[in-house]
Amino acid sequence: MSVYYSAAKINLFLQVEGLLPSGYHELTSVMQSVSLFDRVEVEFGCDRYALDCGGLSLGSEEKNIVTRMWRLLKKRFSLPGEAHIALEKHIPVGGGLAGGSGNGAAVLRAVMDAFALELSEAEIAGIAAEIGADVAFCCFGGTMLATGIGEKLERLPAMAPGAILLFDGGFHISTPEIFQAYDRIAGEVERASVSAMIEALKSGERDEIGAALFNGLEKAVYPDYASLKQLSETLGAREIPYLMSGSGPTVFALAEPKDVEYFTQGETERGAASFGRVIPVAPVSKGIFTEKEYIAWQKEHGCSCRR
Ligand code: C5P
Repeated sequence: MSVYYSAAKINLFLQVEGLLPSGYHELTSVMQSVSLFDRVEVEFGCDRYALDCGGLSLGSEEKNIVTRMWRLLKKRFSLPGEAHIALEKHIPVGGGLAGGSGNGAAVLRAVMDAFALELSEAEIAGIAAEIGADVAFCCFGGTMLATGIGEKLERLPAMAPGAILLFDGGFHISTPEIFQAYDRIAGEVERASVSAMIEALKSGERDEIGAALFNGLEKAVYPDYASLKQLSETLGAREIPYLMSGSGPTVFALAEPKDVEYFTQGETERGAASFGRVIPVAPVSKGIFTEKEYIAWQKEHGCSCRR
């Protein structure tokens, strides 16, 4: 049995460049792994395939990313036996944090380790892209520039350390629906330059990163959710840089220690009162942690990383 922890991702920058004939969208995105983890336990050499989602309803077993990843790898590399996979979910499902994609990446890593598969980064990215647009990033993680549909990756300077607050709305948004809504308003969405974000990361200044945050999908999501508008007003009033992650609804904020205290220790948990759960996290330098790496990270940074 092997255990891995897959990290959530946020998008520091997300611009839709256009609609491709495949129905997918070409993107320019800067992605960052953060310290909120799902636990993924995998046992190989079983008689029958089984997926345990800890009682959560995650749709059909066959359509689940981890099942699709296991089936693809079993066929491609003629792997013997079946797998039992158990997920302990902490990353909000359908929240724009690539939780499911990270779980798929963890299964790829588990297979590589268990069957001593030596795959190049290009081979890993190729397999990941067959499963989903964000899976390749989740295999590597850290801070990366993603282009194409999200599968062409380039490493960027690591994001400056510091607290990030995730505001989990507690509801799910369908990514395909948001991209369709975006297509209807694409002409009205302002455009931004990713170079400002890349320069900000190079500078190591959180203020500069805050000023360069951009998500072109926000305009397709915000009008339908009063709670998102309310949250942005609260964060705006406190002058905290914030952005919706991916296709939402999770919003993240680059918080100062006083903001972390305000939102997590207030009598009413202010964020929670208006929006949902508030989860303090920090940037991390990779997407998949072994159990040993995860425990070491927790020891060094405290345990706000898992809920
Ligand atoms: O690849 P993944 O399953 O994560 O994508 C979910 C959906 O999001 C896709 O089916 C597609 O509708 C939309 N999408 C897109 N362009 C991308 C990534 C995702 O249109 N680059």
